[in-house]
Amino acid sequence: MKRTHHCGELRTTDVGTQAVLTGWIDNVRDLGGVLFVDLRDREGITQVVFNPNTNDEVSKILHHLKPESVIAVAGEVLNRDDETVNERLATGKVEVHGSEFEILNASETPPFPIDDEKGDKVNEDLRLTYRYLDLRRPRNLNTLKTRHRASKVIRDYLDDQGFLEVETPMLFKSTPEGAREYLVPSRVNPGEFYALAQSPQQYKQMLMVAGVERYFQLARCFRDEDGRADRQPEFTQVDLEMSFIDREDMYALIEGMMKRLWKETLDVDIQTPFERMPYEDAMNNFGSDRPDRRFDMKLNDLNDLFENSEFKVFNSVIKGGGSVKAINAKGLSDLTEGELKYLTDMAVAMGAKGLAFIRTRESGEWKSPILKFFSDEEKAAIKERLNVEDGDIVFFMAAEWERSCSILGKVRLEAAELLKKRGRLAIDKDKWDFFWVIEFPLMVYDDEEGRFVSAHHPFTAPVVEDAKYLDEDPRKVRGQHYDLVLNGMELGGGSIRIHQPELQQKVFEEVLELPKDVIEDRFGYMVQAFRYGAPPHGGIALGLDRIVGLLTGSPSIRDVIAFPKTQKGQCLMSQSPGPATERQLRDLHIQTIVVDKK
Ligand code: AMO
Ligand code: AMP
Repeated sequence: MKRTHHCGELRTTDVGTQAVLTGWIDNVRDLGGVLFVDLRDREGITQVVFNPNTNDEVSKILHHLKPESVIAVAGEVLNRDDETVNERLATGKVEVHGSEFEILNASETPPFPIDDEKGDKVNEDLRLTYRYLDLRRPRNLNTLKTRHRASKVIRDYLDDQGFLEVETPMLFKSTPEGAREYLVPSRVNPGEFYALAQSPQQYKQMLMVAGVERYFQLARCFRDEDGRADRQPEFTQVDLEMSFIDREDMYALIEGMMKRLWKETLDVDIQTPFERMPYEDAMNNFGSDRPDRRFDMKLNDLNDLFENSEFKVFNSVIKGGGSVKAINAKGLSDLTEGELKYLTDMAVAMGAKGLAFIRTRESGEWKSPILKFFSDEEKAAIKERLNVEDGDIVFFMAAEWERSCSILGKVRLEAAELLKKRGRLAIDKDKWDFFWVIEFPLMVYDDEEGRFVSAHHPFTAPVVEDAKYLDEDPRKVRGQHYDLVLNGMELGGGSIRIHQPELQQKVFEEVLELPKDVIEDRFGYMVQAFRYGAPPHGGIALGLDRIVGLLTGSPSIRDVIAFPKTQKGQCLMSQSPGPATERQLRDLHIQTIVVDKK
């Protein structure tokens, strides 16, 4: 039997014709001896009816077949009776009256139902162990389709814009200043290792020196980071680089891409150009370099109020050059002790000395361990500045500026979650808040390392008029770096690059203070390449998994990757990683020692 239609295809216009369908048995219902089989394939579900009067044998066999068995069915397409029409199914007005039937493969009872809603309640580890069954659920297959469509739209768009897709090596070498890497031992070079590419950054810059002018790649990247909802150890970037451009060209290119992507996947028109927000404003107002602006709860600066306050905790921080910031979590004064402890512990884990708060009761009374330190004027000023009403809770943070902002930024997000849980904050599901964050600092001081490190990466060019401060105070230098943010998620980031060999050498040597031999060994070829006519260039990389996650409304990027890793970096289906044999290790010149994990 050769398939004539997909299970999502038949309509009333097909009534009277013969059809052959193949697929998986979604379920079988026996209504007084008449069997109704929902047959499912990638494209949908069709109801097939077997009447015992005409199909006695078949009915008997079917009765014993388990769901998920694969069958082929031939029969006539007929209209359903009015009362059995299913408006929720695309094929819901018709059914196939089965006359012939073939078992292609009987299934055992699957470990969980292949159903969107019921499947969601199944433990994720079990689903990932049987990912081939989990993917069979219609929503997951649709996600793969959206991912395919998104990749195709992006490829077509970049092709239209004159980009060449070029593949770059995954076996690269270890580079400092980036994420933690996966090392791959080289058999033919004993004791030496490749590193799996954490991004094609250096190669794509070499492609610019090579004169490719416009490069892109849907590039697999590897980073040995701890798993999170928006992070996987291997993930895909829409990676691109262009020569002879400035930041404005980049904004326009990516805005055009997003516009087309949203139109062609969701049929949604997004507004361009996107707003641009300086990093400093993002931190000051939202305590994050990727603010979620779909709800308010902005941070307030209270330095002017507490400069001369009696409250030592606040005024000492201000005198030391730090910031006192506050947010008003409106309507969250019924926060439980457990929730308050959670927020405080989180703040402390991020380096806070504590998380001060004022809770206002419905009665209008203010409750707080620090209230006694505030004068009446200060209380009145807080009330006015933060618009404090009964039922609110205000959180305060006093610390060095960046820390004060980012801790309260995290408290803001958590408070929003608590408000959502209580049904007091709703986020519009149809809102697409795209914007650029710009004017990042080029360097940030790393206390642990005792030196400056790149905010983005060491190839980012300084803003031209700031370059003069590189020697005097790198903190003052802004980078030509841009991040694309959507609904509180960093979709991508990039920059205009350094293309002058002297400046690149200076950044490595004098600003980042990397040892000369490290520079030579790791980046020597780049600096050299720049001596042979490197064009000015810049680029960006967008997280494809994150984009598809947002397009499909998936809570985690695990949902949009066919075979994702767990938080512990494992593939539960294939059971990777696993041990190597003695023989393999010998060939690779590797000895393992078991370290006591205690
Ligand atoms: P960056 O490190 O900012 O830039 O990465 C760019 C984008 O890649 C995505 N991303 C991830 N997605 C899933 N899991 C991960 N572990 C992960 N890490 C990053 C994010 C991020 O915004 N070479 C530069 C780009 C450039 O300068 O052109 C780079 O890799 O969406
Ligand atoms: P203390 O006077 O140290 O007991 O602190 C009084 C309150 O302020 C406690 O609730 C602390 O959690 C909080 N607190 C202490 N230091 C800070 C700080 N730097 N920023 C915000 N709150 C703080």
